[in-house]
Amino acid sequence: MSKNETDIIFILVLKRHQFMVKDPYLILLIILFPQVISDFDMTLTRFAHNGMRVPTTHNILDNRLLINEDCTKKELLNTYYPIEIDAGRSTEEKLPLMVEWWTKVHELLIDQRIRKDMLARAVKESSAMLREGYKVFFDHLAEHHIPLLIFSAGVGDVLEEVIRQNHVFHPNINIISNYMDFDHTGVLQAFKGQLIHTFNKRQGALSHAAHLRQVQDRPNVLLLGDSLGDLTMADGVTDTHNILTIGFLNDQVEERKESYINSFDIVLVKDETMDIPNAIVKYVT
Ligand code: C5P
Ligand code: MG
Repeated sequence: MSKNETDIIFILVLKRHQFMVKDPYLILLIILFPQVISDFDMTLTRFAHNGMRVPTTHNILDNRLLINEDCTKKELLNTYYPIEIDAGRSTEEKLPLMVEWWTKVHELLIDQRIRKDMLARAVKESSAMLREGYKVFFDHLAEHHIPLLIFSAGVGDVLEEVIRQNHVFHPNINIISNYMDFDHTGVLQAFKGQLIHTFNKRQGALSHAAHLRQVQDRPNVLLLGDSLGDLTMADGVTDTHNILTIGFLNDQVEERKESYINSFDIVLVKDETMDIPNAIVKYVT
């Protein structure tokens, strides 16, 4: 396809989606030595499908194969998720509550003695779904040797299984997440390393991404997320030249619209596809 044809398709896709771009030149600036840094739950995966919520990596664990009926994990979600997305609370206010949520959930999961050999089946039985157009996104990045850093406050072992079962776990992918630590019989005994929740990705980025050569060699970043906390995911790249940020606004749209428009370069409202990231990735490669 000629550059002109790509330009036309790119503009058409952008127009169809009617979003706001604060600085259109940023799209051009990430052409040289780009990399993609993306959140996972509700960014690479869908938020909803046919009116039903699509499970996060945590929700995939809510399966009788792994946890008992009386486990209070779902009650924690009902308490803390509204806090996570509350437009009326500051990040500082949310921080200790997110640590509390994640700590309690990790403890509950350890109490449930989750078995490693059951994870793949739980993913298979779940309704986990990557966004429409995911295959083009993953395959195109791999084909063009563009590094993709997936940065998730979910559960790394489950995340890996989701992308493996969708046949897109390519060699250009690095993952930073909360990984399970199993004992020699394959039973969960702890979580590895420093806890990552929605609002401390900066610390995770500084301690993990700083050691990834693939990430350091690429100063131009396309960043995808669904939470304002995701905006710090590129903080581990020491010499960033340009960062183009795309925010998927899935929930509490009216309440959060203003803060998303002020924080991300592009905001996609209730868009369950990878059309815009795909158009940009194709345009810059
Ligand atoms: O991949 P990402 O960083 O988005 O993963 C974190 C998401 O997982 C949060 O947005 C949160 O709503 C969700 N979560 C959940 N159940 C938990 C903890 C977090 O669904 N127990
Ligand atoms: Mg997310």
